[in-house]
Amino acid sequence: MNQPIAPIAVRPWTLNGMSERLIVSHYENNYGGAVRTLNAVRRELAALEAGAPASRVRALKREELMTLNSVTLHELYFGNLGGEGNKVPEPVGTLLEEHFGSVTAWRRDFVGAAQSLAGGSGWTLLTYSRRQKRLWNQIAFDHSQAAVDAAPVLALDMYEHAYHLDFGANAVAYIDAFMRNVNWAAVVERLAAVRADRPLPQEDLSDATLPSLSIEELSAQLAKGEPIQVLDARPRHHISRTVDLMEGAVWRDPDRVEEWIGELSPEQPVAVYCAYGFHVGCSVTRTLRERGYDARFIRGGVSAWYAAGGARALRPTGN
Ligand SMILES: [Fe+2]
Repeated sequence: MNQPIAPIAVRPWTLNGMSERLIVSHYENNYGGAVRTLNAVRRELAALEAGAPASRVRALKREELMTLNSVTLHELYFGNLGGEGNKVPEPVGTLLEEHFGSVTAWRRDFVGAAQSLAGGSGWTLLTYSRRQKRLWNQIAFDHSQAAVDAAPVLALDMYEHAYHLDFGANAVAYIDAFMRNVNWAAVVERLAAVRADRPLPQEDLSDATLPSLSIEELSAQLAKGEPIQVLDARPRHHISRTVDLMEGAVWRDPDRVEEWIGELSPEQPVAVYCAYGFHVGCSVTRTLRERGYDARFIRGGVSAWYAAGGARALRPTGN
């Protein structure tokens, strides 16, 4: 069972007081690292032979639990960023009032729990307990310790890697910035799901109307040696700030499709990526499809490829 990389579920350049660099580094290195570790641990577990030492089994099972939770909590974290944090919508506002006395009291409790982790590590979660039928704030150490029969509906990462690039050791300023950027719409959806005994939704900003490829599908096709033309279509202003691209890809300016479209082979499928898979890659894919090419965009863009540990190559200079 291979854990796939989820495309980043927030537009990382849109946050108020949190940099794109911070969010993308967190996604590619820490979230991606958790997915890669989980897959490695599961491969080790699957390869364990009968009679393997109990201590080895215990260590691997513990690691599997921690990394599986880390993967899920990170996906929830990115998915609950990108909104206007101060505007708590219904029915969340009423539930917070019911269960904490007021939204202000909830916020004080949640922020207080987060601040208690400054200089340490762990998660602060607003959790809905199905068993108790109520919301409460909890701290989860080691990516674990979630309550039984409960689901986190708002996740705040208090590991230092979540804020150090922008805030240094100033965890209080990071918590403030996080609260300003809470995407309450995601919390509303999650609460509705958990209260109806449905799984938590997976936030995904990818365009579902256009044919696409996941990172895992692309990588399987490349591994089999299937012919595929991989295009990096990040805008010139974005690519000029980076030194590398996906191994095997060529960069083509998305604003000058007419200049290079004739170089593509009409017989081979085309996979197009941009930075995160939200817009530019999709728009180039759409143009290519209109012109008769079998083109798909890569969900999650090059950021998801890097998060998965995909190979990178130095970008040739001069284009
Ligand atoms: Fe993290």
